[in-house]
Amino acid sequence: MSPVRITRILFEHHPDGFGIGHAKPRLSWRFSSEGADFKDWSQESYEIKIGASKDDIGQIYSIQSYSSVLVPWPGPPLCSRQSAWVQIRAHGTATDANDGQRHAASTEWSDTTSVEVALLIATDWTAKMISSQLPVAGNEPLRPLLFRRPFTLPKEMTSIHKARLYISAHGLYRAHINGCRVGNEEMAPGWTSYNHRLHYQVYDVTSTLRSVEPNVFGVEVAEGWFAGRLAWENKRYHYGDRLGFVAQLEIYGEDGQVLKVVSDQDWKSCHSATTRSEIYDGEEYDFRLEQAGWTDDPAFDAASWCGTVQVPFQCATLVAPDSPPVREIETVAPVKIWKSEGGNTLIDFGQNLTGKLQVQLPSSTNQPLEGHTISFKHAEVLELGELCTRPLRSAKPVDSVTLSATQPATWSPKFTFHGFRYAQVDGWPTQLGLPTSNDIKAVVMHSDMTRTGWFSCSDPLVNQLHENAIWSMKGNFLSVPTDCPQRDERLGWTGDIQLFTPSASFLYGISGFMGNWLADLSAEQLEDRRKGVPGVVIPDVLSIPPNPPDPQCAWHDVTVLTPWDSYISSGDRELLRAQYASMKAWVDQGLPRGANGLWDQNVWQYGDWLDPTAPPEEPGKAATDSLLVADAYLVRVLETITKVSAILGESEDLLRYTADAAKVRAAFQHEYVTPAGLLASDTQTAHALALVFGLFNTPNQMASSADRLAHLVHSARYRIATGFVGTPLITHALSDSGNHQLAYRMLLEKSCPSWLYPITMGATTIWERWDSMLPDGSINPGTMTSFNHYALGSVVNWLHKNVAGLSPLEPGWQKIRVRPVPGGTITNAEATYDSPYGRIECSWKVSEKDGTFHLTLSIPPNSQAVVILPSEWKKAGPGEEKGIEVGSGKHCFSCCFKQDEWPPRAKLRRSTFRLDTGSA
Ligand code: BGC
Repeated sequence: MSPVRITRILFEHHPDGFGIGHAKPRLSWRFSSEGADFKDWSQESYEIKIGASKDDIGQIYSIQSYSSVLVPWPGPPLCSRQSAWVQIRAHGTATDANDGQRHAASTEWSDTTSVEVALLIATDWTAKMISSQLPVAGNEPLRPLLFRRPFTLPKEMTSIHKARLYISAHGLYRAHINGCRVGNEEMAPGWTSYNHRLHYQVYDVTSTLRSVEPNVFGVEVAEGWFAGRLAWENKRYHYGDRLGFVAQLEIYGEDGQVLKVVSDQDWKSCHSATTRSEIYDGEEYDFRLEQAGWTDDPAFDAASWCGTVQVPFQCATLVAPDSPPVREIETVAPVKIWKSEGGNTLIDFGQNLTGKLQVQLPSSTNQPLEGHTISFKHAEVLELGELCTRPLRSAKPVDSVTLSATQPATWSPKFTFHGFRYAQVDGWPTQLGLPTSNDIKAVVMHSDMTRTGWFSCSDPLVNQLHENAIWSMKGNFLSVPTDCPQRDERLGWTGDIQLFTPSASFLYGISGFMGNWLADLSAEQLEDRRKGVPGVVIPDVLSIPPNPPDPQCAWHDVTVLTPWDSYISSGDRELLRAQYASMKAWVDQGLPRGANGLWDQNVWQYGDWLDPTAPPEEPGKAATDSLLVADAYLVRVLETITKVSAILGESEDLLRYTADAAKVRAAFQHEYVTPAGLLASDTQTAHALALVFGLFNTPNQMASSADRLAHLVHSARYRIATGFVGTPLITHALSDSGNHQLAYRMLLEKSCPSWLYPITMGATTIWERWDSMLPDGSINPGTMTSFNHYALGSVVNWLHKNVAGLSPLEPGWQKIRVRPVPGGTITNAEATYDSPYGRIECSWKVSEKDGTFHLTLSIPPNSQAVVILPSEWKKAGPGEEKGIEVGSGKHCFSCCFKQDEWPPRAKLRRSTFRLDTGSA
């Protein structure tokens, strides 16, 4: 048995290779290795075998290369609908532990993985986008529609080889063939910038078809993001007011016959029993209006149904996405069901989450329940013992169901989702008493990304903080990266994801998801003549093209920084290439500059949004000068685009951006930095920005900024004083400038504002504000009071990198930096990361008693790590640390370890005065 195995083959960043929109999908493979005898396995060449069908022996392509991630497709391009199977075998060398020599070691051929291409060219589509002839109500929610069409297979098609459904919608769809629901996607086709890019899905529907009897094809369409109310200004129909769908069902007989059933004017339409369905305001379903047999009975009488009309396609390109679909991922049972003092039936699911309820309906057989309506109201928190819906602003997340004599046993809304931990049930039949935990469950929905990262340590509160960040990520990665899942926003806020991407890309495989969202960003920015400024939310439903929104640092800087962060985690240069025009458009045209090269001073900035001193009614009134924030970001953005232009070989740009970055860095120093290293804004955020973005000229300036930051942290009694911008940076700034114990001290602080304060208040997700819930349990009166915003959870990136010690040393993790920095009261920590090469495991513990540090590490084949032990970083100066280089395999290290002073003391003249009055 070979010591190294190929465990997974990936096509581009596609979840499974079925229905992929690439003719030459790049291939990546992960490894695992067993047995301690072989170490340091590195690949020298690989073979890819590609075959067309089961009987095909396949064509082998042999390539000399150490790359195993995103390698080019070696065969001829695949065409629309074509499928292929792939097997990979890699050859390399490893060190034999017995003789210390390098020996050749190959993997076996991998398991076979299939790929099937979707429809690559526009003319592959003969189906039309159709809508109903039913009239549209003006400025009202659009009632969901049903569409149906019976069809019969041609006589000569006696057996079916395969059948594929290609489908999308203006709105959200659910398709059914012969009574079977097609696929298990939720909120399909997902939200994209519908005027530019419309996703379609591909389903294998072979098993749903009947060859002898007539078949029935039915589609239900609801308004979703396409026509629903979005954002807080009560505007609806952002992309149009005609709900419709486009579907192409292609059926292939064993003998080569083909039948295509497409959406066209032969379809009939009718109103659905879903009488209203809105994302913000919930869904209403009336079982009395159900039309039995509409999706499975060929003899169903559709005489009262009306016709359909073809609708224009909004000039969007139909895209087979690489991003994973939204699905129902897990269910959560109630932890408590009770009657409140106000007499309301309340349910606590014990977890703030994004999704919907699944209800076991009371049966009508014993009680006359026909026409009885039960409704379910959702909220994230309670106040004074009742649901608190004020933070939801204008959203009214109430779902309701009206019973009939013959309804099925379970019901769940189909085209909406809510952010909630609690639900209030109104109208539950009194004779049944309170619903039980068998009657009602919460269903968690999000984009079905693969989990890649795990972290835990000896402190349960820190583990809960990490868990909360994961829940906030799950809750806000629903088709697009949103700010929050509950109130009248749920929009793709650019700043929030810009800050959270480094954390998110450790926790889940998000390359496909982010690549898709960034494609929307560039499409809107470049095609809508916006002069380089994208929306502050993507898809943009806030500004009306071609009028761009006001330019914003940190938010619009997403154009440059987020492709870069994604590249760091995936190593995908093609993403940089795809986004390069968008990066340049922002930097060269969008970003308004003054004569000194810095930001135009007349632009209002969100700045360090929601720092704890910002009053509830003025979330942008931060302690840190917003221009300093903008200009610090400007240096960062210019230095990043310089690196991108170097990687892409854009030599003219490289020269231009290098000069611009140097000029702006000098202007920043002139404007904001004193020769001694003080800053114009003397705040945690300002120092964190300058230290992490490397904005100082001299080591002395850096040292005095580090001291100043330490002083500010001591004086704040270890409470956090940063908003959205400073929060991802502050702990890195402290650790990287030699104050790692202070970083731990801040992390472990429990009084408000701090990361652990919400945990002490029972938080199960990351809050938008440090004090979304005030210490007395009341809810912050501000209008920005979500309980599920991931931005402030971006500290988990520091947990992964500094506490557990894992970070990529080179883009894509082929080289890994392992540099754990134990501190505070944390005595052990571990992290696991499924890198593009395979699983990395790192776990350490310190033993106070004998003053030792122990690290165990597992590195996947074809990658290497540089390990920097505490004994090394404690003695070496900045930039002088010498790491131990190791290859794949399991490794153990130990060294002496003496904890630095804990709790850390302030260096104040009154040396007896200890500022450690915080609660950690
Ligand atoms: C959103 C934020 C966003 C901010 C910008 C808010 O309403 O929820 O997360 O970044 O606006 O102003």
